[in-house]
Amino acid sequence: MKKIKAVIFDLDGVIVSTDEYHFQAWKQLADEERIPFDRNDNDRLRGVSRMESLAIILQKSSRTYSAAEKQKMAARKNDIYRELLKGLSPADVLPGVTSTLQALRERGMKIAIGSSSKNAGPILQAIGLADVFDAVVDGNHISRSKPDPEVFRLAAQRMGFPSEQCLVVEDADAGVEAALAAGMSVLAVGSANGHPHATLSSQDLAHITPDEFLLANVSPTEESRASITI
Ligand code: BG6
Ligand code: MG
Repeated sequence: MKKIKAVIFDLDGVIVSTDEYHFQAWKQLADEERIPFDRNDNDRLRGVSRMESLAIILQKSSRTYSAAEKQKMAARKNDIYRELLKGLSPADVLPGVTSTLQALRERGMKIAIGSSSKNAGPILQAIGLADVFDAVVDGNHISRSKPDPEVFRLAAQRMGFPSEQCLVVEDADAGVEAALAAGMSVLAVGSANGHPHATLSSQDLAHITPDEFLLANVSPTEESRASITI
C-alpha cells in the first residue's frame, strides 16, 4: 500500500473559477476573428498552455496566421483575461476548497499547485491563497504543458516526495493524463469527473472528503486500480 503524503492541485477550475474567464476571453477573441468556438471546444483547452490553446482554436479557422499574428492574438486574449481577473476575489474560490486545504494541513499533508498558467501568481494573490501552498509550480516553470507530466513531477520534487506518494486533483482530461504519466494517483473533478482512467472522481471538492480521497493509495498502474465515482 502506498500512502499519499502530498496533494497537488490544478488551479483553474479546481481551486478557482477562472476556467470560466478563460472561456469568455477566448470566446471574445474567436468572435472577433469570426472563428467558431463553443463550450465543447473550450473543454479541449483545459490544462493546455496559452499558445497550444490558440493552435486548437485556429484549427477551425478558414485562414492561416503568421507566427507574429499568433503572438498578437495570444497577447490580446491574455489582455482580455487579465481584465476579467480584476474582479477576482476570495469569493471565487470553488466549493469545498478551503475546508479541504485546512483538513489536509491538519493531517500534516504537504500541498502544492501544479498549473499550466503563467498567471497563477496574481490569481493566488487575488483569492487570498498566495501563502498557503508548500510549492507553486506553474506555466513559468515548465517547458512542456499537460498532458506532459513535467509540472506535477516538479511539484512533487519541490515538496520532496516520490510520485507514488502524491495525489493530483484535476478538472482537465489533459491534467488527468499528465498525473497518470507522472505515476501519481488522480482525483478527477469538474469536467474531468468520471474520466475512465482517474483513480477516483467527484463533482467537486465539496462532494468528497480528504478521508475518502486519501484512500486513493493504489498506484494507477496497478491492475487493481480503485475506481470510485462519488
Ligand atoms: C490552464 C488552463 O490552467 O492554464 C488553460 O486550464 C490555460 O485553459 C492555461 O490555457 C494557460 O493559462 P495562462 O493564464 O498562462 O494563459
Ligand atoms: Mg484546470
